Amino acid sequence: MKTKLPMPFIRIFSIFLVVFAITEFMTPGDELGFSHPTTAAFYLLVILALVVIEKIKQASENLYTDHISGKEKEAYLAEKEASEIKDWKGLIQALSKTKPISEEDDIILEHDYDGIKELDNDLPPWWLYMFYATILFAAVYLGYYEVFGGQSNEEEYIEQVAIAKAEVEAYKKTVKTIDLSNMEASADAGALSKGKKLFKQNCAACHMVDGRGSIGPNLTDEYWILGGGIKNVYNTISEGGRDGKGMIAWKNSFSPEKIQQLANYVLSLQGTDPANAKAPEGEKWTEE
Ligand code: HEC
Repeated sequence: MKTKLPMPFIRIFSIFLVVFAITEFMTPGDELGFSHPTTAAFYLLVILALVVIEKIKQASENLYTDHISGKEKEAYLAEKEASEIKDWKGLIQALSKTKPISEEDDIILEHDYDGIKELDNDLPPWWLYMFYATILFAAVYLGYYEVFGGQSNEEEYIEQVAIAKAEVEAYKKTVKTIDLSNMEASADAGALSKGKKLFKQNCAACHMVDGRGSIGPNLTDEYWILGGGIKNVYNTISEGGRDGKGMIAWKNSFSPEKIQQLANYVLSLQGTDPANAKAPEGEKWTEE
């Protein structure tokens, strides 16, 4: 076989690499620290190298053809084309081991099947070696899973689920969940401004922007229907008011964190004494 790599082969190989690179780019990185974009970049680098090699080869040939002319040039180009075709044919020949038509007489079988004759071709190496590879694969597979007790799909599944559950538990310990039991008043400016924005968008229709009250009660005074203090206010916003009064439960719309921001914002309105405030409703609240 020719040692020189034929150009058509390089081009086909490049197309495969481009497809690999695209799929790698579209796949997110996995936990093994094996980043897919890095692999894709590697493929692209290989393609770039192949292109550079081809360009250099072309440039050196151009350099040569620039110096020759007429018959000499024609002869050179014709020979080059012929050798490229030969390279390609050589590759196909090496992979398939086909006999040229002129040599078919050597391999034709004696038998005549109703006028159809058969050639006793060698098995094409590409096929033969793939067949050997499958035999090898089967042996390794059988040995690994059946003899040496490799994990079955089911065992692997059970193990992975157990690992994932342990990870979830570990994660839960690292995050502080927000609920009534650990609810605390906060004067954090960032959280309050987030609460203010949420209040404007979702609550002002009934409580007014300044909390003076309209359909909903006045939120700026010390009187509360459903109880004051951070825990009661959080609970009211989360679970809603009394049936039929119009204050819905917001826990389906907002995360506990957002409800906490809203509750703290509502409490920050205490004593702001806006104009036209709605008359107090409920009991006067005093923190114990
Ligand atoms: C559709 C009108 C409406 C909207 C919108 C509304 N509320 Fe209310 N809200 C009410 C009514 C009515 C009550 C009184 C409930 C009751 O009497 O049980 C109330 C009660 C409350 C209370 C308890 C007041 C007390 O005196 O105990 C708080 C706190 C509150 N709302 C906060 C909010 C927040 C925060 C939002 C926005 C996420 C909101 N509300 C949106 C109508 C509304």
